[in-house]
Amino acid sequence: TDAAGTRHFALSAGAGNSEILAGKSTATWGFNGSMLGPTIRARRGESVAFTIDNDLPEATTVHWHGMHVPARFDGGPHQTIELGARWEPGWTVNQPGATLWYHPHPHGSTEKHVYRGLAGLFLVDDEVTDAVDLPKTYGVDDIPLIIQDKRFTADGALDESDPTDIGLLGDTIVTNGITGAHLSVSTEKVRLRILNGSSGRMYNLGFSDDREFHLVASDGGLLTAPVPLTRVRLSPGERAEIVVAVNGSNTLLRAMPYEDNAGLDRGDAAAFGVQDSFDILELRAGKNPTASAALPASLATIARLDPAAAAAERSFELQWFMINGAQMDMNRIDFSPTVDTTEVWTVRNVDDWPHNFHVHDVQFQIIDIDGSPPPPALAGWKDTVYTPPGVRFRLALRFTEYSDPTYPYMYHCHLLLHEDQGMMGQFLVL
Ligand code: C2O
Ligand code: CU
Ligand code: CU
Repeated sequence: TDAAGTRHFALSAGAGNSEILAGKSTATWGFNGSMLGPTIRARRGESVAFTIDNDLPEATTVHWHGMHVPARFDGGPHQTIELGARWEPGWTVNQPGATLWYHPHPHGSTEKHVYRGLAGLFLVDDEVTDAVDLPKTYGVDDIPLIIQDKRFTADGALDESDPTDIGLLGDTIVTNGITGAHLSVSTEKVRLRILNGSSGRMYNLGFSDDREFHLVASDGGLLTAPVPLTRVRLSPGERAEIVVAVNGSNTLLRAMPYEDNAGLDRGDAAAFGVQDSFDILELRAGKNPTASAALPASLATIARLDPAAAAAERSFELQWFMINGAQMDMNRIDFSPTVDTTEVWTVRNVDDWPHNFHVHDVQFQIIDIDGSPPPPALAGWKDTVYTPPGVRFRLALRFTEYSDPTYPYMYHCHLLLHEDQGMMGQFLVL
């Protein structure tokens, strides 16, 4: 932090070697290291400034997924960092405390850059997250968990061959950059901040003994109250914060087969991996754990956006690498919301493939799903939502603070192959 109160961060993207599989060396990419990147942490109201150096063999970008940020610093496909170049974005953090993340977004190559290892978490704190009585000692009972799937060749290299229709689908789970991850838990309860950082794989997460846990936050921050669950679903790009009582008995966080095939027909469900099961993280219970507080009955207040006050309504049909029948064009602006207005967007996946829907700059609220209110797990702030075939989602979004006639924000399917293939569009906030 400098005299003016700005927090400075330095990131450098580069290539290296990582031990993902025990005893083997894999060529990977990372920020400030050979794989993944440091967890960045800043407070609401704080100004942040970055120097980002590109020491990769290719041009890239760094996008702040979930962050309310000026469009010229969004890190989408227009903010290319050429080889050997430096990019210096900065803004004032102004949104609720949340688990966000950062990753490359170069047009057409996002999947490969993320798959090779470029991704990190960006935690936002505020008075509400400070005050709430949840586990919050980072690395002790507040644990970041980046879940990815990868495939390896016989000699341990990342296998980038044979993508499926939803991109590279791995047969090996890599948790925080390693396989076979475990955590020794020294407290009664642990909070897991989980990111699905995979290209296309979706996860239906639960514990091996089906123990109950509580969902406390979704993409954009705390829910109004903890939601008791035995499963939580994450499509690529989504986050969930859960609190689980370990209480002296070991358990495993596991990806379970989707009970409903994620809304896909059986053949696609098998091809796209939603019937697969993987161990993600073993939780080893310590003896004489430190007491954890009882879960609070309420967490945060979420002011509901008023769909009746919408300044515009728009609709989006997701199909066959396109949105509304068009592929991404860097030179086409699809529409322009007005700053300080609310809009209602209707999103439908009219394919039989899985897709999800992500919007830059804003956190949205799901108004309804096929006309019914969202389940509690989807009732908080979201920036990415899984859209199963045929289902209609209505989203309320409010654009605030930043307008820019030059630089657009993106909206897209976050299955990274689909994004790279053009299932993306651009809007200006004016
Ligand atoms: Cu996490 Cu436009 O992406
Ligand atoms: Cu994003
Ligand atoms: Cu898609």
